Amino acid sequence: MADGSSETKSSNQMWGGRFASGPDAIMEEINASIGFDKKLYAQDIRGSIAHATMLAHQGIISAEDKDKIVHGLDTILSEIDSGAFEFSRRLEDIHMNIEARLAALIGPAAGRLHTARSRNDQVALDFRLWVKEELQKTEKALTGLIAAFLDRAEEHAETVMPGFTHLQTAQPVTFGHHCMAYVEMFGRDRARVRHAIEHMDESPIGAAALAGTGFPIDRHMTAKALGFREPTRNSIDTVSDRDFALEFLSIAAIAATHLSRLAEEIVIWSTPQFGFIRLSDAFSTGSSIMPQKKNPDAAELVRAKTGRVNGSLVALLTVMKGLPLAYSKDMQEDKEQVFDAAESLELAIAAMTGMIRDVTIRADRMKAAAGSGYSTATDLADWLVREAGLPFRDAHHVTGRVVALAEQKGCDLAELPLAELQAINSAITDKVYGVLTVEASVASRTSFGGTAPSEVRKQIAWWRARN
Ligand code: ARG
Repeated sequence: MADGSSETKSSNQMWGGRFASGPDAIMEEINASIGFDKKLYAQDIRGSIAHATMLAHQGIISAEDKDKIVHGLDTILSEIDSGAFEFSRRLEDIHMNIEARLAALIGPAAGRLHTARSRNDQVALDFRLWVKEELQKTEKALTGLIAAFLDRAEEHAETVMPGFTHLQTAQPVTFGHHCMAYVEMFGRDRARVRHAIEHMDESPIGAAALAGTGFPIDRHMTAKALGFREPTRNSIDTVSDRDFALEFLSIAAIAATHLSRLAEEIVIWSTPQFGFIRLSDAFSTGSSIMPQKKNPDAAELVRAKTGRVNGSLVALLTVMKGLPLAYSKDMQEDKEQVFDAAESLELAIAAMTGMIRDVTIRADRMKAAAGSGYSTATDLADWLVREAGLPFRDAHHVTGRVVALAEQKGCDLAELPLAELQAINSAITDKVYGVLTVEASVASRTSFGGTAPSEVRKQIAWWRARN
């Protein structure tokens, strides 16, 4: 980027009318946003074309000037696209870089483009367009991740694994059911994304500096041309508001948190001690010293990206929290947070989608672990309630004694002889063995949203119809 340091110190050509000299070098450095807001060039040009077209339609500028402006902006778009454009820090930001280039290309007509607008509504427009597009990309990416989970859930609707609470073996579940828990989580993230798009679908352009304008502009026309549902309704709020950016960051932080929990499970499950999954070579790395190692680096980095995304949310909330209405330059600090969080989230979703599609599920290991830790103890208690008519609290107590006995003998519940079970409670019959296997346990949990394969398949079908 040309930083303008070799240029002579003169007042700014865009707003320098009342200034005798140019800014101090440090002022220029702290003030400039071109280093990061150049990312908004396509949105800025699109916004300017819509604005100029509306100005001409309303008779505020001539059709001839409009044509020159649009042509010039098209040229600038291809210059930036091709890398030929020279950005100048002296010109502060993307808006003034483009306008200065327009003046160089088409002469005085360029000066008419800024009629009835300010950089305050201009930046609000550019940034909103960018965030809206990013939300649309996020929606697509989440749909891809959900689809990956639906496929794995279908494949493993019958695969048993231990379900955990406190990371202690709790009750057997199906791996398909566990996958579907993530479908629910990412489905909620996607619903939040859709809602946010709807929420922010209002065009800021025409709010001008903060008070609107006396020119007979048509904000409905620009809103429509830019793909917004309608224009915003309060010009002061329009240039003060960054809720759309905060909403993006909150959604990103929640989604990153979900991704991080999944990443943590992948890290745990891929250890030799658990051995529930084997990561593909494509999503793991080796160690430079220990030849046997296969590390879940991608999952670890997804887990870590959450820190960046959460940091961005807190940073922008903190920037905004004390600002009086309307625009303050503090708000220029909004962009880097959103850009960084967006990049992290996109990468994290893509990496996770790849990992979920590629990972090998070790059903034998899952099954072996599913039966350990007396995971079917609740099934025994439920059986005592159902078949022997015990109140649940009593059944719980009886089962506790059975577990203690098995623990003492070092065997599974199903390996205890009937006589010893009957010594604890005489109502127990040999039918009880039918509920002590993990397969019987999961098959019995047919309550709505439960872990039974039949139930999991219903939930997969429900999501497939909506994905
Ligand atoms: N670069 C500025 C930003 O990102 C654009 C708006 C500047 N407006 C102003 N009144 N100085 O917020």
